[in-house]
Amino acid sequence: MSAWEDYLSEYLEEILIEAEPLQQRVKELGQQLSADYAGKNLLLICILKGGVPFLTDLMRQITIPHEIDFLAVSSYDRGARASGGVVRILKDLDEPIEGRHVLIVEDIIDSGNTLNYITRLLNERHPASIKICTLLDKVERREVEIPVDYVGFPIEDRYVFGYGLDLDEKFRNLPFVGIAKT
Ligand code: IMP
Ligand code: MG
Repeated sequence: MSAWEDYLSEYLEEILIEAEPLQQRVKELGQQLSADYAGKNLLLICILKGGVPFLTDLMRQITIPHEIDFLAVSSYDRGARASGGVVRILKDLDEPIEGRHVLIVEDIIDSGNTLNYITRLLNERHPASIKICTLLDKVERREVEIPVDYVGFPIEDRYVFGYGLDLDEKFRNLPFVGIAKT
């Protein structure tokens, strides 16, 4: 075992989605998006930081012209979530989105509070359309109903990391999604 694998095994319970099926699903999503948004002025909005690996792989599987932009919001602790999930913008988009076909690219949807806030915020800027593409969806954890248009993998309620998702800010670089040891 390499030192890296040795180190990782302290935190990794098991691999949930291996790199190969993950890349295969990203490719399928890219093909679907290329068909669905053909002839449209597509703008991918990546939610920092977790959405980065997904965005960079997904955009390379999209075969129609498109642009990208980045949005960073604060996460909130459980106390804040219980009192209504206040989310704050840390880094706003560079460009206006009025009249644009917006696709939000996110790593995971849990309660739905973050994306509920983001879609409400972006809708006020009058995009032509706004849809959501998430790699992972913890369906049973949902607290607010939000329409999720593209899902990589529905998953059960376990803490996962890798491929953008962090464990105390680390391991976003892993090419697979793993379940954390508890
Ligand atoms: P929501 O507002 O509850 O939907 O939270 C979504 C955010 O929580 C995601 O963008 C992640 O940053 C974080 N999150 C939720 N579940 C996990 C997980 O299993 N691993 C890592 N981050 C997670
Ligand atoms: Mg996130």
